[in-house]
Amino acid sequence: RCLQTSVTNDQPKAPSFAFAFDIDGVLIRSSEALPRAHRTLSYLQTHRIPFILLTNGGGKSEQERVQQLSRLLDVPLDTSMFVQSHTPFAELANDHGKENLKDKCILVVGGDGDKCRRVAEGYGFNNVVTPSDIITAYPDLWPFVLLEYHRPFARPLAQKGHSNQESSGHPTLKVDAIMVFNDPRDWALDTQLVLDLLLSIGGHLGTLSTKNGDPNLPNRGYQQDGQPELYFSNPDLFWAASYHLPRLGQGGFQAALEGVFNAVTGGPKNGVQLHKKLFGKPTQGTFQFAENRLRQHRTVPQEGEAGELRSVYMVGDNPESDIRGANDYRSPTGSKWHSILVRSGVYRGGKPAYEPKVIVQDVWDAVRYGLRKEG
Ligand code: G3P
Ligand code: MG
Repeated sequence: RCLQTSVTNDQPKAPSFAFAFDIDGVLIRSSEALPRAHRTLSYLQTHRIPFILLTNGGGKSEQERVQQLSRLLDVPLDTSMFVQSHTPFAELANDHGKENLKDKCILVVGGDGDKCRRVAEGYGFNNVVTPSDIITAYPDLWPFVLLEYHRPFARPLAQKGHSNQESSGHPTLKVDAIMVFNDPRDWALDTQLVLDLLLSIGGHLGTLSTKNGDPNLPNRGYQQDGQPELYFSNPDLFWAASYHLPRLGQGGFQAALEGVFNAVTGGPKNGVQLHKKLFGKPTQGTFQFAENRLRQHRTVPQEGEAGELRSVYMVGDNPESDIRGANDYRSPTGSKWHSILVRSGVYRGGKPAYEPKVIVQDVWDAVRYGLRKEG
């Protein structure tokens, strides 16, 4: 657990700084802990210096991921100081949220099997379908699919109370929102399915909107006919996996989908822009969510007392997400985020696209830099 220091007269005050650690390329690479990650987190816990893990990874519950990380890093961790790409999606499933999707039909895309469905249901979404459900119910939706992969994870759509009466020979499953929780495994199937819904009449699968009145116009009434919103949990074009070169991430799928969408609709030159809601680093919303989580679980003394959270050192390997996000983040509470770029992941040298405060070899050097700055 990331030790929290309570603030009483006879106890040390919470330090006025904390660390935020990216995971892939900073603490681990795929399923191996990086050399000095254990030593770094152990040191911070021993010296009661708070930290949070802030990753664009995902695809499993926070509990499951934290247990896996605790084992890999040999450090006691818990979900109170852990934010992954889709953690903020949970706010879209609560009743008082402005975008309350709790009872809406959500297509959850990405991840292994139906793990992301279970994550979504754990957040409170109670009307979730997956590509496996749909391709099993409508196998001709995409000719080149391995049905045997999807069948074990598929749930009959009818059981969900979805209106899937066949009409004009096409399914009429109505999807209200599309949420990409993690990197899709079958980009082709997921691209076809998402495209079908974006060009549908009101999210009814198997229909094609010609709202603009001219079926020959390529944009076919996109965004004029109640099509579902499209959410992405992370924009990473690349990430640091076990291969020695960076691998395409969820941002790669996004770019591929956008390329197909533009080819089909004519895209911006035809006045049609793919509309999407982005979560994950470097979005400000994710950094705000992470800072709130950091503040919640770190006893913060009254304003102005020693120990108020003044600085957060964001340690990352990806200039486009970790460094850019920390550099751009403007905290409503005035805390300053300082970006530290490590060489143990995506960044391989040269002038980074977004300038960090400092470039160091690895996470241990990053913490030593932060501690030196704090004196
Ligand atoms: O899917 C994981 C990847 O996008 C990056 O994860 O931990 O480097 O933010 P992380
Ligand atoms: Mg990373």
